[in-house]
Amino acid sequence: MGSRERIKKGFSKLLKEEKLKLIANYFENPGEVISLLKSYWHSDTRQQKLFDEFSENTITNFFTPYGISPNVMINGTDYVVPMVIEESSVVAAASAAAKFWGERGGFHAEVPDTRKVGQVHFGWKGTMNQLQELFPRLKERLLADTDDFTANMRKRGGGILDIQLRDYTAQIPDYYQLRVEFETCDSMGANFINTVLEQFGHSLHAFFAEQAQLPEPLRATEIIMTILSNNTPDCRVRVWVECPVEQLEGIDEHLSGAEYALKFKKAVDIAHIDIDRATTHNKGIYNGIDAVVIATGNDFRAVEAAGHTYASRHGRYESLSTVTLHDGLFHFELEVPMALGTVGGLTSLHPLAKKSLELLGNPTAKELMMIAATMGLANNFSAVRSLTTKGIQAGHMKMHLNNILNQLKATDNEKRQAHDYFKDRTVSYAAVEKYLDSLRK
Ligand code: MEV
Repeated sequence: MGSRERIKKGFSKLLKEEKLKLIANYFENPGEVISLLKSYWHSDTRQQKLFDEFSENTITNFFTPYGISPNVMINGTDYVVPMVIEESSVVAAASAAAKFWGERGGFHAEVPDTRKVGQVHFGWKGTMNQLQELFPRLKERLLADTDDFTANMRKRGGGILDIQLRDYTAQIPDYYQLRVEFETCDSMGANFINTVLEQFGHSLHAFFAEQAQLPEPLRATEIIMTILSNNTPDCRVRVWVECPVEQLEGIDEHLSGAEYALKFKKAVDIAHIDIDRATTHNKGIYNGIDAVVIATGNDFRAVEAAGHTYASRHGRYESLSTVTLHDGLFHFELEVPMALGTVGGLTSLHPLAKKSLELLGNPTAKELMMIAATMGLANNFSAVRSLTTKGIQAGHMKMHLNNILNQLKATDNEKRQAHDYFKDRTVSYAAVEKYLDSLRK
């Protein structure tokens, strides 16, 4: 790897054009790079400014396809679901599963709980018993000091639900924690939670300083940090599909519906006992979930982090989805934590995120959780169905054919011919290259 000249201090202070020029010098042909990166700027400067201000040091935009999975039936309602994803087969896989399950009663979903958690990590030299004695008064103070911040959220039916003390002094000397539970209604709530927690930190510090009855060392606290937790096991969604096993007839031409149900279950069970498979299996679930989370301007890193923690809740990382077979009924279910918002944050700033929500009928956060989880289960179903029948590559490479053709700079006419030619043939980069060579000769 070639070493790069260090950029002098103050890069963030430069104008966008200056940053772009500076970065272009890292390429062989700076002029060409500047034109290329500029060609991805929005033609409306006001719109572009909006994107520039989402993040620091923006020099251009990075496009990702925005696709649609139509006719996704959830709890009897049809949704047209926007999906932002670069992987060729994800939207097609989701749509195929939506069609399949749409003919079998659709997807069913529920949100059992929407509690989120935040933490104040602090140091104090007293014992847990002493802390517990002070706790009722401390709690009152914390609530009073954040009364103004929480007023609006309380009006909407949310706010602070609970504050608990945690004693970790056995693991780290003098380390205690306030574990706070929140309801943030239709907002993801990160800003609300962090604002409340930071005030809790100040109030806790002041509260102890004011306890004249305590010996001097116990009037001091160290606020180590205050932050929400992305572990949201109590803000979770359950989605499932079910049908008599006979209705799986035809998926595999060599197996009856009942036999195929058993094979499908085995494939999902493997992801419960084998970590290597579980990771890939769950990745397939997040193909669908992330695409909706991104399309609606939500935080996919938070959603994934929570999901992978949840997948380890029994002490070992395992599948997030489960198959049960009872009395001839095939039941396929996914349960995942998910902190999503439909108001505030990027959801109301990004013009396409707003349109995504509108396309979904301006859902509540709970509804959006159900929609995103559904696309996770849909993708999971399609992936496992392909894997247990014709294999993943057939569909995957068919979708990828366009990418290969584009890489090889195929004309529209060549593309048409190639799609026809590869209808019943195995797609690979080498095979497509060879075919194009033969056409071009
Ligand atoms: C590819 O993006 C996702 C899959 O690997 C998921 C799976 O194996 O279940 C197909």
